[in-house]
Amino acid sequence: MNLLRKKKILLGITGGIAAYKTPLLVRTLIKSGAEVQVIMTPSATDFVSPLTLSVLSKREVYSTFTSPAKDHDTWNDHVALGGWADLFLVAPATANTIADFVHAKSNSLVTATYLSCTCPVLLAPAMDLDMYAHTATQQNLKKLAANGVEVLPVGDGALASGLSGKGRMLEPDTLVSHIEAHFAKNAPLGGKKVLITAGPTYEPIDPVRFIGNFSSGKMGLALAEAAHQTGAEVLLVIGPNSLPLQEVPFEVIPVVTANEMHQSVIHHYSDVDIAIAAAAVADFSPQQKALQKIKKSNGLTAIPVAPTPDILAAMGELKQSHQFLVGFALESEHGVQNAKKKLKAKNLDAIVLNSLEDAGAGFGTETNKITYIRAEKEISYELKSKNAVAHDIFSAILQDLDQ
Ligand code: C5P
Repeated sequence: MNLLRKKKILLGITGGIAAYKTPLLVRTLIKSGAEVQVIMTPSATDFVSPLTLSVLSKREVYSTFTSPAKDHDTWNDHVALGGWADLFLVAPATANTIADFVHAKSNSLVTATYLSCTCPVLLAPAMDLDMYAHTATQQNLKKLAANGVEVLPVGDGALASGLSGKGRMLEPDTLVSHIEAHFAKNAPLGGKKVLITAGPTYEPIDPVRFIGNFSSGKMGLALAEAAHQTGAEVLLVIGPNSLPLQEVPFEVIPVVTANEMHQSVIHHYSDVDIAIAAAAVADFSPQQKALQKIKKSNGLTAIPVAPTPDILAAMGELKQSHQFLVGFALESEHGVQNAKKKLKAKNLDAIVLNSLEDAGAGFGTETNKITYIRAEKEISYELKSKNAVAHDIFSAILQDLDQ
């Protein structure tokens, strides 16, 4: 569900009081779906227990080059540890370890792993304010940054010495945000903004009734998640739904009517790089919403309606050269032909066709079967989960953006 899923994070803990926060950091990373391998300097074990970190990370924790075993000691291979990791985070990084890194020392498992690892290194310094401000430390940090280490800032506030100032290790949540930002920056859609419309719209008839449709919003949510996992900043504009959106790691704008969705989309559209209209927008809206519930006894023979704004067509008209616009087409016959007409009429870059003729495709289902269509090409996919379909769509878009 997020950028840290299945990421292999090697956490190097060095001997500073901020080490007491690392169990929370490990727990947060594990909860985010990352795999965490902890290594420590011997002095770090004075501040936080390897047992605690081992329980939370569900792995053995190493603080020495060898571990005692029954017959003979086993080697804690720092080369393999460095090779395993997608990212090496050193937190807290003490002034001493920072100096060791600068001087290529391999006097502990952490420093040896720093020298041998080939993955990106993130460093979260933590020390007293004068140590941090010292020219020697600042020069060391500059040298590490020049060598490609991503040196994180420090927090400002109460320090273990009783003094107050710059030198605190960043809080675990902030560290996790930095790690996410690191993976986002290096992901295929890193730095791109993606807008997705999803779900149905409800067009009120009176305070309790509406014109709507059976769209669940699941395809749109799957697209938003795939975009986020690929590193994009995501904005999901979604109509009424019962999806679990409380803790999603991107911005969600809930709307009810086609007009509200239109306003929200137009407000944000100029900022985005990719927009995908997956919403099943109601095509008609009652001309007037009755202020009171319409009584059955009064009888009702017709509801005068007016067309809703075509949001996708509006995006097509406003489209700038750097923007990539994708629509959906749910067709019951002559699918490709009709989808291609829409592609042109709405000035789209691509259109995703799902056919009502295909079992398991369309509204409410967990699966979908699509054809990705551009003016000059069509790619048809098998029936898949909506999550897998969303990833297929972004792979196709990324390929098109590359050309
Ligand atoms: O023309 P049609 O409604 O079949 O086009 C479907 C596509 O247009 C979908 O991408 C849908 O999200 C979008 N759409 C829209 N606003 C409307 C109607 C459809 O954005 N009022």
